[in-house]
Amino acid sequence: MRVVIEGVSKRYRGRRGEVEALRSVSFETRDGEFVAILGPSGCGKSTLLSIVAGLVKPDEGRVRFLQAAGGPPPANGRPLTAVVFQEFALFPWRTVRQNIAFGPEVRGLPRDQVAARVERYLEMVGLTPFADKYPKELSGGMKQRVGIARALANDPEVLLMDEPLSALDAQTRSLMQLDLLRLWEESQKTVLYVTHNLQEAAFLADRILLLSRRPGRVRAVVEVPFPRPRTEALQASPAFAAFCQELWELLRDEARAAMEAGEDG
Ligand SMILES: Nc1ncnc2c1ncn2[C@@H]1O[C@H](COP(=O)(O)OP(=O)(O)O)[C@@H](O)[C@H]1O
Ligand SMILES: [Mg+2]
Repeated sequence: MRVVIEGVSKRYRGRRGEVEALRSVSFETRDGEFVAILGPSGCGKSTLLSIVAGLVKPDEGRVRFLQAAGGPPPANGRPLTAVVFQEFALFPWRTVRQNIAFGPEVRGLPRDQVAARVERYLEMVGLTPFADKYPKELSGGMKQRVGIARALANDPEVLLMDEPLSALDAQTRSLMQLDLLRLWEESQKTVLYVTHNLQEAAFLADRILLLSRRPGRVRAVVEVPFPRPRTEALQASPAFAAFCQELWELLRDEARAAMEAGEDG
């Protein structure tokens, strides 16, 4: 599935006046591509993701979804998308297993199919021993794995992730990056992954969509030159450091200007 973003603009109107969040953003993913959306705080990354998810309407432009050659077009023009949010957003009154089962249940899948799917994703994210625990009994990293398993259990064609690791400590975050890569390599979904962490973008993505400060505009589209499967050794290599430095040079002026204008939030 390809995601085609065409001339998307968005303004929010509030009591304190108008905020121009995005201006004429155009970008097209490839099939099964992992795209990182990188930009300073407040530049409209979450807004862009919400527009792709169909949760927010753009003022101008549109988002189209194109099936791979030979595949059927998505029903009513929208494929199934699933979103993983930064703040986990799990149901506290449901166990891990019940959280993961939620999407397939709501979509009316037969019971045995729901159960099989849930067990598969529990296994994939390594949470089988914790299936009957409640979210409050889990660590941050485990909660986020539940969030990811819950999104994948919907079998979405497009997976949207909004800073899914930013609430985690550095070690958990590194481990989760590796887990995410492994999951994605297995599933081959098209992923849009919002982050403000350039190392994370460089490690995970095929390409990076770099946004300017607010209003978010396409500043650059950067091809990540590292082959897959990627390992921790890559992160320690001089080539990786050099690439991150290049990204930082593209991002630096935008980040500084956003900070000085107090736009970061
Ligand atoms: N629902 C909303 N109402 C008003 N302003 C909003 C709303 N959502 C976001 N904004 C503003 O739009 C800008 C972009 O926000 P956001 O998309 O969350 O940026 P990012 O995710 O890059 O930090 C920010 O200035 C933010 O305060
Ligand atoms: Mg955001």
